[in-house]
Amino acid sequence: MQSDKQKILVTHAIFPDVIARLQTHFDVEVNDSGTALTEAELIRRGADKDGLMVIGDRIPAELIAQAPRLKALANMAVGYNNLPLDAMTPRGIVGTNTPDVLNETTADLGWALLMATARRITEAEHYLRAGKWQSWHYDMLTGVDIHGATLGVVGMGRIGQAVARRALGFGMRVIYHNRSQVAPEIEQALHAEWVDRDTLLRQADHVVLVLPYTPQAHHLIGARELQLMKPTATLVNIARGGIVDDAALVTALREKRIAGAGLDVFEGEPALHPGLLELNNVVLTPHIGSASIPTRRAMANLAADNLIAALGVGPHAGNPPNVVNPDARLHRPASGGAQA
Ligand code: GLV
Repeated sequence: MQSDKQKILVTHAIFPDVIARLQTHFDVEVNDSGTALTEAELIRRGADKDGLMVIGDRIPAELIAQAPRLKALANMAVGYNNLPLDAMTPRGIVGTNTPDVLNETTADLGWALLMATARRITEAEHYLRAGKWQSWHYDMLTGVDIHGATLGVVGMGRIGQAVARRALGFGMRVIYHNRSQVAPEIEQALHAEWVDRDTLLRQADHVVLVLPYTPQAHHLIGARELQLMKPTATLVNIARGGIVDDAALVTALREKRIAGAGLDVFEGEPALHPGLLELNNVVLTPHIGSASIPTRRAMANLAADNLIAALGVGPHAGNPPNVVNPDARLHRPASGGAQA
């Protein structure tokens, strides 16, 4: 029998209970192949869907053109530069994200990378595993201090603030750069001081990037910016690939123009600049900023809440909590369709 439920595609397997919740409202197709769908597969499998739950995939604008019933794309991530909003908004297609629920987990990972990079943890473990630890030497695997140092946070949004808050326990000076200064009470609580970007790069001992990817942020950290940093400084990127010019970073790390980098995101990931793999002074993780089970569960549930509401069902029908393109509402069809 033909179901009259709306159809959705979930682009990767997620928690079975979240799928079960979606199934109470929708005909649910899940890509549980364990590999990402290609662009062509996304377009083909999205064509007859009313909504998509998007997990890490870059959605081609072509999919929007080929999917006449599509009303909502619920991204299971806070960043949404993978959604083709320019194609979605004029069609009244709502995009949503999952802010807040991952702030603390992502800030934890930022700190894990900062500390591992500053104290050369990956390099030290490789050294030990390779049987090279034969004796003591006063400068064996010496790193740079974290306590008492200056932390530079680029992007003082919710995750940036969570990163900065952790610095209080390390007695650090915190400087930050953001397009706009945060409220004075937040600055006071975090003991954080706004500086321009070049000043931050010149003064910080540890730079953490936590800003959203936008075309303006493309290669925000390139050869010139790396040149401004201290030779003893570290750079952590938990934001997005493309914000750092990875080729310029490889050169800077190779020439020891900065001490090290901790990277969770890469230009063109899951591929990465081959030069990174040849370096000792990097700590590399495969985009795991939000990767704890409670946080991934909260993200999956929030993305499901958004999709359910955006497709006009459930307790918040028509009012998804986390719309990223509110102008979509201006283009909504008179009847049916999602509400923003
Ligand atoms: C992860 O990168 C996210 O944007 O949530």
